[in-house]
Amino acid sequence: MVSIAIDGPSGAGKSTLAKRLAKELGYIYVDTGAMYRSIGLYALRRGVEPKDADAVQALLPGIELGIQLQDGAQHVYLNGEDVSTDIRAEAVGMAASAVSAHPAVRAFLLDTQRNLAKGQNILMDGRDIGTVVLPDATVKIFLTASPEARAERRRKELEEKGQPADFATVLADIQQRDYQDTHRAVAPLKQAQDAVLVDSSDIDFEQTFALLKKTILERI
Ligand code: DC
Repeated sequence: MVSIAIDGPSGAGKSTLAKRLAKELGYIYVDTGAMYRSIGLYALRRGVEPKDADAVQALLPGIELGIQLQDGAQHVYLNGEDVSTDIRAEAVGMAASAVSAHPAVRAFLLDTQRNLAKGQNILMDGRDIGTVVLPDATVKIFLTASPEARAERRRKELEEKGQPADFATVLADIQQRDYQDTHRAVAPLKQAQDAVLVDSSDIDFEQTFALLKKTILERI
C-alpha cells in the first residue's frame, strides 16, 4: 500500500492541493486537521477554554468522531452530527491549534489516523504525518510558503467568501498559529528529515499542483 504524507503550516494550500492529488491518484484523502478542528469545536460549544489541557482532556470520553468519504469529499461527524462546514470557521481553527498541543488529544487521534492508513492507498495531510503518524510513509512532502504569501491567499479567500478581513489581521493570525504549531512540546510542526520541501511562495496553485504531482509520481 502507498501512503503519502503532506505536512506544512496553515494556509499553504495543503488541503485543496491534497484533495485534488488524491482524486487524480485514486487514493483516499484524509484531512487530519479536520479531526483537531472537531475537538476544538466541541470545546468551544461546551464553553471549555481550548488551552486548558485538563478541561479538554476531560471532554475526550464524550467525543466520538466519524470520518466518511462522500463523493470523494471527507465528512467529519462529531457524535453523529456532520460538522464539516462548522469546523471551517476561523475561531475553530484557532481552537484546533490550541487543543492540538495537548498530548491527550494527540494520543486520542493517533490510532484513528493510523487505522485509516491500513489496507488502502492514502494521502494524509496535517502537521506531524511524516514525523509521527506515518513515519514510514512512501512519500513525504513538506509544503510551505512565506507567512506573507499565505496571509494574502487567505485574505483573498475570505474576501471571496464575503468575509473581508484586513491583511495585517490575517497575517497576525497566521503567525500566531505558526508559533503555536511549531512550539508545542508534542509532535510539533517540523519537516521530516526525509521529506521533500516544496515552497509555493512564488508559484501559483496550478504550478504547485504540477510540482507536487511530479514529486509523488517519481517516488511511487
Ligand atoms: O490544517 P488545519 O488548519 O485544518 O489544522 C487545524 C489545526 O490542527 C492546526 O493549527 C494544528 C492542528 N493539527 C495538528 O496539530 N496536527 C495535524 N496532523 C493536523 C492539524
